[in-house]
Amino acid sequence: MLMGMVVMSSCYYDVAEELYPPTTCVTDNMSLQSNIVPILERNCYVCHSVTDGPNNGNVILEGYTQLIKYVDNGQLVGAINHESGFSFMPKNAAKLGDCDISKIEHWVLDGAPNN
Ligand code: HEC
Repeated sequence: MLMGMVVMSSCYYDVAEELYPPTTCVTDNMSLQSNIVPILERNCYVCHSVTDGPNNGNVILEGYTQLIKYVDNGQLVGAINHESGFSFMPKNAAKLGDCDISKIEHWVLDGAPNN
């Protein structure tokens, strides 16, 4: 009986590990196009793309010249981290995942390259 339970739980553990491998968040050498834009597309363009609706506070995050304004004034990083003094983004939705936030922060720390 006890053996059975041990075997079962170890099987279960193996399967669980296959389904959910240890998560790693890679944040080195972030590329605007490959790493950052997809996050913005998924979470922000619904309100902040060039062709969005009117309900965006006149903030456009699509295109480097637009996006860099909010990097330089600190609002991009402040908003996604829900820092006081900033509007919390994405508006009326859950905060971005830690890895997505970290990727954006690292890209900004790298000097926000247009790469
Ligand atoms: C549902 C629409 C919506 C979504 C989704 C959304 N925003 Fe916004 N955003 C707004 C509006 C509206 C404003 C104008 C300020 C306000 O009303 O809070 C704004 C303002 C901002 C500002 C200016 C910040 C400030 O403090 O005024 C930034 C930066 C920003 N958004 C970034 C983002 C980012 C990054 C995402 C995705 C992670 C995002 N937003 C998702 C609607 C949205």
